[in-house]
Amino acid sequence: MPITRRELIRNSSLLAAAGGSALAADTKAPPAAASAAGMNPPPPHLLADLADYERAAPTRMSEVAWNYFSGGAADEHTLRWNQEAYVRLRLRPRVLTDVSDLDLGVQLFGRRHPFPILLAPCAYHKLAHPEGEAASARGAAAAGATLVVSTSATTTLEEVSAATPEPKWFQLYVQPDRRFTEGLVRRAEAAGYETLVVTVDTPVLGPRHRETRTPFAMPPGMDRANLRGLVAATGGHRPTEQTIYSAMLDPKLTWKEITWLRSLTKRPFLLKGILNADDAARAIDHGADGLIVSNHGGRNLDTVPATIDALPEVAARVGGRVPVLVDGGVRRGTDVLKALALGASAVLIGRPYLHGLAVGGAEGVARVVGLLKREFAMAMALTGRRTVAEIDGSVIWR
Ligand code: FNR
Ligand code: LAC
Repeated sequence: MPITRRELIRNSSLLAAAGGSALAADTKAPPAAASAAGMNPPPPHLLADLADYERAAPTRMSEVAWNYFSGGAADEHTLRWNQEAYVRLRLRPRVLTDVSDLDLGVQLFGRRHPFPILLAPCAYHKLAHPEGEAASARGAAAAGATLVVSTSATTTLEEVSAATPEPKWFQLYVQPDRRFTEGLVRRAEAAGYETLVVTVDTPVLGPRHRETRTPFAMPPGMDRANLRGLVAATGGHRPTEQTIYSAMLDPKLTWKEITWLRSLTKRPFLLKGILNADDAARAIDHGADGLIVSNHGGRNLDTVPATIDALPEVAARVGGRVPVLVDGGVRRGTDVLKALALGASAVLIGRPYLHGLAVGGAEGVARVVGLLKREFAMAMALTGRRTVAEIDGSVIWR
């Protein structure tokens, strides 16, 4: 989304207040990230929303890291649509409902979450901050949100677990080595992860041209810590000119393996990366306890719809049998409200908390979550909804 002049001026004055010079305008453009690198972001109390964190984040990391985090597939249409589709939806408020005592809480897989925002699994947190996933886990815990820890973390799942006793979920990338995969599931159970989230939308990565141009490489000393023992721990991750496949992803995966994985654990079992209602129905037939409607943050298949546009059809087919979560482009409290109105039980955010991590470590993560939660509470109050159960389709202006 092109940055407006007002935003540009606001950025400049924020940075001036922080003793910096003008931040390059469009944080989505690689050259801007490059020129911004090394500058100090404004102090946290001047960062008002998730967009401010997005603008501040590239000043705290290399251009390679920024292009990895911010990029999408191909022309990045879906990446943009994820946010634009929320903006297109209008709200229908209700007045005079006594909103003096709001309850943002939701029940998910046997546990109450104080608000319906989770942190999506994202790889390589150490590219954003030296404390990596441990800081994200502490920040999530401080904010009261659940972190979904990625297989591709730069910290072992045991170390992330040790960083905070608060519940966490584990996201699985099935490895071509099935015994290793089973080992990962066992390790996640032993370390106390509450659910297993199997990502099914990534048999191969999408064409991420920003990564080619910089180009992407894991810095020395960083690895896919959970995959130690496999070549995928340090190499073979990105597609090359010779192959579209990655060592850490299994392109052979089918529903048969879902049956197998389901049998490995008694913990709640979710599939992440569902867009098609037929797949949603099949997932439930294969024992899924929950689904995450996701297009991988626009990073895999360009021109699939925005997730908020895909959600209603999936939710209708699921018909309340299992919780349906959604991620992709959630940046405002009103986005959270709209997702819940259209059938989601909760949302996840990806890039925004990575921006928080880059800017302020654990505190930055907690602050990003806190800002979004506060906006969501305001959206509930201003639409006259006191509880999450009161957020239904009637809050959307048709
Ligand atoms: C991701 N995503 C992701 N998903 C997953 O299942 N396993 C992973 O390791 C990763 N890694 C990853 C890295 C980065 C840098 C990003 C931005 C995303 C996808 C992620 O879980 C989620 O679906 C999207 O990030 C949601 O979109 P937003 O909130 O970033 O717009
Ligand atoms: C990504 C993979 C690692 O989106 O999930 O970069």
